Amino acid sequence: MKNEFDFSTQMLYAGSDIKNFPLKPESAPLFMATAFDIDGDLDDVETAYNNHDYTYIRTISPNRDMLAEKVSFMEGGEKSAIFSSGMSAILTVLMSYLKAGDHLIAGDTLYGETIELIEILENYGIEYTFADLGNLKAVEAAMKPNTKVIYGETASNPCMALADIEGCAEIAHKAGAVLVIDNTFVTAYAVKCLAKGADIVINSLTKFVGGHSDVLLGSATGSAEMMAPVLKNQPVFGTAGGNFNIWMCLRSMQTLGLRISKQMENADKLARALEKDPHVVKVNYPTVEKYPQKELAHALFAEGGGCGAMLSFEMPADRAKINEFMKRLKICHYAPTLGGLKTTMSHPCTSSHRELTPEMRAELGITEGLMRISVGIEEADDLIKDFTEALKAFDE
Ligand SMILES: Cc1ncc(COP(=O)(O)O)c(C=O)c1O
Repeated sequence: MKNEFDFSTQMLYAGSDIKNFPLKPESAPLFMATAFDIDGDLDDVETAYNNHDYTYIRTISPNRDMLAEKVSFMEGGEKSAIFSSGMSAILTVLMSYLKAGDHLIAGDTLYGETIELIEILENYGIEYTFADLGNLKAVEAAMKPNTKVIYGETASNPCMALADIEGCAEIAHKAGAVLVIDNTFVTAYAVKCLAKGADIVINSLTKFVGGHSDVLLGSATGSAEMMAPVLKNQPVFGTAGGNFNIWMCLRSMQTLGLRISKQMENADKLARALEKDPHVVKVNYPTVEKYPQKELAHALFAEGGGCGAMLSFEMPADRAKINEFMKRLKICHYAPTLGGLKTTMSHPCTSSHRELTPEMRAELGITEGLMRISVGIEEADDLIKDFTEALKAFDE
């Protein structure tokens, strides 16, 4: 589709074409076949491989190509690889850009299992340093002659601390290193990481992009050149996503723009309401008055597009009252995931960050009273009512 149309219109149509497929189905067909027959003789077999025609599913698949094209359009990249999970995307990208003797700089507030993965890479001779990617002096200080990758997340879990993508890209590129950004928390609807200078952008499609809490998938996107080693390694690593999940994701992405706009709008309204609530100590969301990285947020988030649909807020650290608050909530409920249609909460202190010492948690702003919220598509006023009523538990 021509780019005379709005991004959301083009998103609807991106990835609809299927190579060598004679029909024009109105919705994406699901190809469950693990192989595609090749008619003819050995010359035809050779041609099929030379043309990258559909052959064997781990190497190439029509559903994967369709989703890759949609995700590439969404992120503004040339090529995408679709993985079985966000973690397999991260693993494949890091293993494609790092080898023994290399050094990696990683954001100091990454998703817990990404940190575990980076620690495992040390067993294979890859050094790492954690640094605050919102502080360019800290990033500069962490650079070494053998730094090959800077890896971060657009906004950190759970306190929404932002990475300075443009600044990190400049530092990385000056040293011949590659900047990889995980955009799962905010999505391309809030930040276009490639346009800000990242070389590869990663998504756990399991979250907002899939959006219905029913698929496990990941993606990596970049220029054809940056994606070449990733796409070459993916079939060998066997990290490609399965067709059924991909088909579900294609279906879900048709409404991504509608969902995420509503979710971001709700998050903004809820964050502002929570900031005014007398029982709330602090709110972590870029549009609240006391957000510490206002300038960076202004530079990072697309004008009028929203700042994502994840926020966290701090209540007084009184477990009995927090328990009572949780029991009183009628809409928001506890779920160990994020990015679904329904508003959910998680408690970093007892879940994602429970392995850290209290001192480490305090340094990251993670207190006993901190609750992380993934904001859904309910009516904003209902959400605000749900939270403000439940917070009255602190009055008693
Ligand atoms: C920021 C971030 N990156 C990556 C992942 C891993 O994604 P997946 O569960 O799809 O492997 C998660 C999962 O929660 C995440 O929050």
